[in-house]
Amino acid sequence: MASCKIVEQEGLWLDVCTGGELHTALQAGFPTERLIVHGNNKSDEEITESLKARAALIVVDSLQELEVLNGLANDMGCRAEVMLRLSPGVEVDTHTHIRLGHVDTKFGLSLANGLAMEGVKQALALPNLNLRGVHCHIGSQILELRPFRETVGLMVEFMAQVKTETGRELEDLNLGGGLGSHYLSEEPPPSVNKYAEAITDVLRAALIHHGLKEVRLFQEPGRSLVAEAGTTLYTVGVIKDIPGVRKYVSVDGGLSDNPRPALYEAKYEAIVANKANLPAAEKVTIAGKHCETDLLIQDIDLPPLEPGDILAVQTTGAYNYSMASNYNRLPRPAVVLASGGQAEVIVERETLSDLVRADRIPPHLKDTRATG
Ligand SMILES: Cc1ncc(COP(=O)(O)O)c(C=O)c1O
Repeated sequence: MASCKIVEQEGLWLDVCTGGELHTALQAGFPTERLIVHGNNKSDEEITESLKARAALIVVDSLQELEVLNGLANDMGCRAEVMLRLSPGVEVDTHTHIRLGHVDTKFGLSLANGLAMEGVKQALALPNLNLRGVHCHIGSQILELRPFRETVGLMVEFMAQVKTETGRELEDLNLGGGLGSHYLSEEPPPSVNKYAEAITDVLRAALIHHGLKEVRLFQEPGRSLVAEAGTTLYTVGVIKDIPGVRKYVSVDGGLSDNPRPALYEAKYEAIVANKANLPAAEKVTIAGKHCETDLLIQDIDLPPLEPGDILAVQTTGAYNYSMASNYNRLPRPAVVLASGGQAEVIVERETLSDLVRADRIPPHLKDTRATG
């Protein structure tokens, strides 16, 4: 909830994509006139709660959802402000699991096969929807500007087609997120300024070219806002040197607090916090404590390590805590906000009691020892 507060204080809008995220935003008192609701499979309850909360915009992901949303808005006697998520078919060079703007995707309606235009026409015809604009999100951890430029061109071209075919000039364009973060020294992402320039240059030129008015431009940077703000601290435990093979250094977390290496082959850099001034002296592999190989970082040069050292893995502010689980019954770590020499806990460390809080033992399993 503290991060919702920071987003609010920075004057940003907030995206939610589940009822749980919506609940968190509402509990944090986030102003709902700056709330956008996403999701490719929103439940009736999630839609109803979003309408009740008067979220600024609902991004509709399918033809089916258009009908459902229209019906629920009708039941509630309101009109939903909507954007339609489109899939522009832009190829991006990122991991396949986070490459989202192409035709074969569960997200949005494709520009290429006509579903996007069908969706727009359907949305315009439904009485309880007010179609404000179009949305797309082509993927995540994108390190080049070419796909973003291409996307803007395609989306504006589509908005021009909408004007020609329906007479309606859409006022909102949402380009989603995707700008990469700096995980490895040798793979810097484009700066935010370069990214913004690239998008606005193409946007202005395309709007003029198609004779369209200026649009309200939305962008949804997630990772690039928060990833580099996060560092995960682990304590070094067992160190196992397999002569001639490799040296494994195990830490007190792993897959449960950071599934990204396993999911996306994500790579990280780290320092030893209590030996930050010492030069690298050996190549090691950092492993977690889970029941799989669970490697966090392979072949990293670090100062000589001993049990009890604190390993600081950098750029873990995005898709880490939010993806954490209790796999192997590990309690999730605390989250600490550090700024200007001050540190405050914003999410408490989970306890062993938290791990069994939701567990129930049915009566017939309770007395197994007595009955043998
Ligand atoms: C619709 C939408 N917008 C924005 C984002 C944020 O993406 P990123 O963190 O890559 O900027 C996501 C991530 O999944 C998304 O699904």
